[in-house]
Amino acid sequence: MTVGGIELIDRAAAAARLPEFGDLLRMALAAQRHARAPYSKFNVGAAVLGGGGAAYPGANVESASFGATICAERSAIAGAIVAGETAIRACVVVTPTAEPSSPCGICRQLMAEFGPDVLVFAASSVGDSVYAARLGDLLPLTFGPENLAAANSGTAAE
Ligand code: THU
Repeated sequence: MTVGGIELIDRAAAAARLPEFGDLLRMALAAQRHARAPYSKFNVGAAVLGGGGAAYPGANVESASFGATICAERSAIAGAIVAGETAIRACVVVTPTAEPSSPCGICRQLMAEFGPDVLVFAASSVGDSVYAARLGDLLPLTFGPENLAAANSGTAAE
């Protein structure tokens, strides 16, 4: 099934698209076990692939002040950046839902910093289904640095 460039595939098909998928999935599943989700009880794990080929794990970390919660995807991206990565090629996220849950809007916005070609795989920790998409399909007409540059060069309306 395909919806606007977003495809529902399985783990084997995801591995055929990205050789590192299996390693990223294993890392995300391991990280999911460390999720801190006492409020939602919704454990999420993630792994991102840096430009240099290394992978970085992430998990959601919740706060009693709910807005302070960080998602698994953003925690993985932060880890990659702290390790010195400047590019992100792919992100695998795992949720405990048979139909995978795709990244929230805030995580999509942060991924957009790394360009529309970031490959996003939303996998399930309780099933074989995987949503696969380019970031550009998950977040079209993205607000990005070019919008800020346009304002600074005086082409935007006051
Ligand atoms: N969550 C993520 O970690 N990633 C997403 O893309 C969606 C939601 C987390 C945040 C919160 O801890 C829990 O899932 C329920 O929203």
